[in-house]
Amino acid sequence: MTNRVPLMAGNWKMNLDHLEANHLVQGLAMALQDDNHDYTACEVLVLPPFTDIRTVQTIVDADDLDIKYGAQDVSVHDNGAYTGEVSASMLTKLGCTYVVVGHSERREYHGESDALVGAKARKTLDTGMIPIMCCGEALEVRRAGTHVEFVLGQIRAALKGWSAGDVARIVIAYEPIWAIGTGETATAADAQEVCSAIREALRIDYGDTTADAVRILYGGSAKPGNIKELMAQADVDGALVGGASLKADSFAAMANFYA
Ligand code: PGA
Repeated sequence: MTNRVPLMAGNWKMNLDHLEANHLVQGLAMALQDDNHDYTACEVLVLPPFTDIRTVQTIVDADDLDIKYGAQDVSVHDNGAYTGEVSASMLTKLGCTYVVVGHSERREYHGESDALVGAKARKTLDTGMIPIMCCGEALEVRRAGTHVEFVLGQIRAALKGWSAGDVARIVIAYEPIWAIGTGETATAADAQEVCSAIREALRIDYGDTTADAVRILYGGSAKPGNIKELMAQADVDGALVGGASLKADSFAAMANFYA
């Protein structure tokens, strides 16, 4: 048995300015309160654009909210001549506790390699935050039937040389690219197939304690209508939610999947 606390993480992507962020976080806090949300039954996390983080911090602190927040990316560098980048310590100063690394949109549009994704995860962890490390296959890979092998390859390449203790502290998000923003959800069985293969690979590489500690999220058109079935899978510990996290009521309903 394990005591992995489910995690509902809202990836806002490049949506909502800081005024809209203010509105959404307040709406989310109210919707969760109306649902009598139990934060020990499901952690709630929002991942706004960098420009919104200070605003989110202000609301969370002022209203003493249990909602957590983090960033969608981070630099591997500590400081210096890296125009446009944001460092991990800048994020911890703003109270961020999680950082998404290696989202497929960053891998695809910004050429991020497994090695860079691993380095970003390392920097995040070393700075006291939790990396949510994304992996997932494109449609061609799924059609070729090599998706499990592909995903395990991404994870093993990124975590090369890591200790079991460090791996135990990360979150992994399995997001099949063909299901992101397409309305095409992987079936709960598809999600479970890959999430359980990830856990078994962690068991082989790092042992039971680590494999049982790591939270594995599913992402890709997760929404109120399919969250219960996804969360009923033994190796799915939460979701990384894009579109459905931009509406307070739908995201709160997803966090309340256990009710
Ligand atoms: P989606 O995005 O829920 O809009 O499919 C998920 C993600 O890319 O994190």
